[in-house]
Amino acid sequence: MLFSVQFVLSFFCVLFTFVQATPTQFHGAPVSGIGVPVSNAEAANIISNRYIVVYHQNATDDAVQAHQASIMSALQKRSLAARSASGNLLSSTMDTFAMNGYRGMSLEAEDAMILQIANTDEVAYVEADTMVSHQSLVQQTNGETLGLQRISHADEGGDSYVFDSSAGSGVTAFVVDTGIRTTHTEFGGRAVFGANFVNSNNTDENGHGSHVSGTIGGTTYGVAKNIKLVAVKVLDASGSGTNSAVISGLNFVAGNVTANNLAGKAVVNISIGGSFSSALNSAITALVNAGVVYGYPG
Ligand SMILES: *[C@@H]1O[C@H](CO)[C@@H](O)[C@H](O)[C@H]1NC(C)=O
Ligand SMILES: *[C@@H]1O[C@H](CO)[C@@H](O)[C@H](O)[C@H]1NC(C)=O
Ligand SMILES: *[C@@H]1O[C@H](CO)[C@@H](O)[C@H](O)[C@H]1NC(C)=O
Ligand SMILES: *[C@@H]1O[C@H](CO)[C@@H](O)[C@H](O)[C@H]1NC(C)=O
Repeated sequence: MLFSVQFVLSFFCVLFTFVQATPTQFHGAPVSGIGVPVSNAEAANIISNRYIVVYHQNATDDAVQAHQASIMSALQKRSLAARSASGNLLSSTMDTFAMNGYRGMSLEAEDAMILQIANTDEVAYVEADTMVSHQSLVQQTNGETLGLQRISHADEGGDSYVFDSSAGSGVTAFVVDTGIRTTHTEFGGRAVFGANFVNSNNTDENGHGSHVSGTIGGTTYGVAKNIKLVAVKVLDASGSGTNSAVISGLNFVAGNVTANNLAGKAVVNISIGGSFSSALNSAITALVNAGVVYGYPG
């Protein structure tokens, strides 16, 4: 039985296991220990003084940009010696997001600054940024071909992988992960580096992103053997990173899909786990609205 590539593609896409408590609104209650209102005060692995700010849907782009410019200017004027509650020097850079009406930014702020940001009319909520990490991969003792056999046949048994002859040709898979070793022969030159939110080493320093990419589009074991793979590096050599970097990665994907008219021809795999994040969930919704396919496994 032949499955179209479109159908097969719905098997990868976004994998989330955002466990953790129900979201709480900062309007009216939860605050972190230092009195800063965040919507996810109970999240695990909070990074001190690092925040994700999300604007109201009804805020105009002009108002959002003016607010971001004023914060940028305040960051540049801040003392270079300013430190977070845990003692790290605060960064004076910030990242902004704008995807289909979802606007936000991530930054490191001292208490007074984040309190002021939270009280700005255009701001919907402020989340504490958190550490996230890649999902561990399930080892297939029977060889990868078993999985390929199962996604291409309705019945168990048999050992062949039957795929649409286009094999994902014309489709781009963005792998938001540890990067991709693009030079690997399994990728046949179909893998490129798209963006790096970790450092300037445009390769996979961990292995997870390359493994995920191999499952999606490797020549031997991949599901879609002609698909184009784009690395969006958000996790470091140890496989960990920040939730805000994941959102920056999705922002890159949305912009790239729009710029290259890839709507309906792009998929994304994010096998990253962390605490519940409204900011991340909204980013995914915006990405889907930009025409990027995702689905749930099974
Ligand atoms: C993303 O890739 C990983 C590794 O190949 C895989 O385990 C996961 O199931 C994929 N995501 C989805 C939603 O299929
Ligand atoms: C924008 O939306 C928020 C939340 O829905 C609401 O509280 C606020 O009053 C709205 N602002 C304007 C100017 O309509
Ligand atoms: C980049 O990562 C590769 C793979 O881990 C490593 O071998 C190399 O030394 C790194 N390069 C730099 C400049 O850190
Ligand atoms: C989109 O991603 C490709 C890699 O596939 C990259 O070469 C290109 O510069 C990106 N373009 C934009 C506008 O982000």
